[in-house]
Amino acid sequence: MKLTGIRSVEDLAAAGGAAGLSGKRVFIRVDFNVPLDKKTGKITDDSRIREAIPTIKLVMEAGAKVILASHLGRPKPGKTEGLSLEPCGGRLSELTGYEVHLPDDCVGDSPKKVIYDLRAGQICLLENLRFHEEEEKDDEGFARQLAELCDVYVDDAFGAVHRAHASVHALPRLMRERAAGLLLQKELKALTRLVDRPEKPYVAVLGGAKVSDKIDVVEALLNVVDTLCIGGAMANTFLAAQGKNLQKSRIEEDKLPLARTIMSKARDRGIQLLLPVDAVVASSIDATQGEPASVDAIPEGTMALDIGPRSIEQFGQAIERAKTVFWNGPMGLFETPAFSKGTFDVARIMSGASGFTVVGGGDSAAAVKQAGEQIAKGFDHISTGGGASLELIEGKRLPGVEALRSAEVSE
Ligand code: 3PG
Repeated sequence: MKLTGIRSVEDLAAAGGAAGLSGKRVFIRVDFNVPLDKKTGKITDDSRIREAIPTIKLVMEAGAKVILASHLGRPKPGKTEGLSLEPCGGRLSELTGYEVHLPDDCVGDSPKKVIYDLRAGQICLLENLRFHEEEEKDDEGFARQLAELCDVYVDDAFGAVHRAHASVHALPRLMRERAAGLLLQKELKALTRLVDRPEKPYVAVLGGAKVSDKIDVVEALLNVVDTLCIGGAMANTFLAAQGKNLQKSRIEEDKLPLARTIMSKARDRGIQLLLPVDAVVASSIDATQGEPASVDAIPEGTMALDIGPRSIEQFGQAIERAKTVFWNGPMGLFETPAFSKGTFDVARIMSGASGFTVVGGGDSAAAVKQAGEQIAKGFDHISTGGGASLELIEGKRLPGVEALRSAEVSE
């Protein structure tokens, strides 16, 4: 994913006079789609907010009026409960000291008034864009209403660039002044290193629940990696496709042929495909304790809920030898302490490895954060994008990035 033809927010900030940002209304699309505690509604991981701060500060310090916009969750049409961006505004304010004002809508008179009244040290955070269903429809009329609020557009929402939604696709194309924020640039640079001639050996570690969620990324990785380690519940489907009896483990029966095709492709291309040789098993996902077992002898009435110690060692050896490592998806049910060792050990080993190490967003990025600050620091890049990082690796066109290129502006 090249940045050719895309201006950067630093260039805009550095330009003086009429070309600069001073006194301009700058719309920054951020991804504040943070996880919230189901009971309390509190933010459980504020990384996406923290990661947006450098761009926000840069634009504030350039003397602009900052308008932030984001989606949060997937609200049903007409339903807004529990998905206001208010907690994100509160958190941003605590982290930066800026006063964050939240109009009750993202378009119309209420944000216009807030933006008009903004003073030094104040920011306007628009209410959840997805409260308008036009956002997900990439509706141009809605984008025009957003365009009325600003003079300059900056996209820093890496997590949302794979969506052709109004605030990431239709809107930038309406704006003459548009640029990529610092986080977006950082993400594109790091992830592009995995696609454009990655240093070899290249090892990818995939996990998570379903093979079906990862088909495209597996296909893409089979063109570049030297070793593919597969853990998590998706490994069960591969092991079952080899004829192993996984007992009560979760298996996607309809994906067995696909797993066989992937295994034979890997063999034909000389790619080492590492599957778990042992697992941590228990009788149900509610269990609080597990036992190690060989994948050739899973006890009756049990299911695999984590990779076992010998598998961790094998995956670890591959990771330590690699010059490039990409990881997406947990190795087991890491939310339960008894089944978290595989995931946390992979995080620890990757953190200490000498190669270029990247973790895709979502659960595996959350696991790295949970493993501790020291472990997280050892990674070269922890992506804030789940679906976006996978689509980039799959070589797909990212609508939000394409919309920033300096093609003609739609009038
Ligand atoms: C994400 O969490 O991956 C992004 O914020 C995109 O959210 P979405 O999958 O609801 O579009």
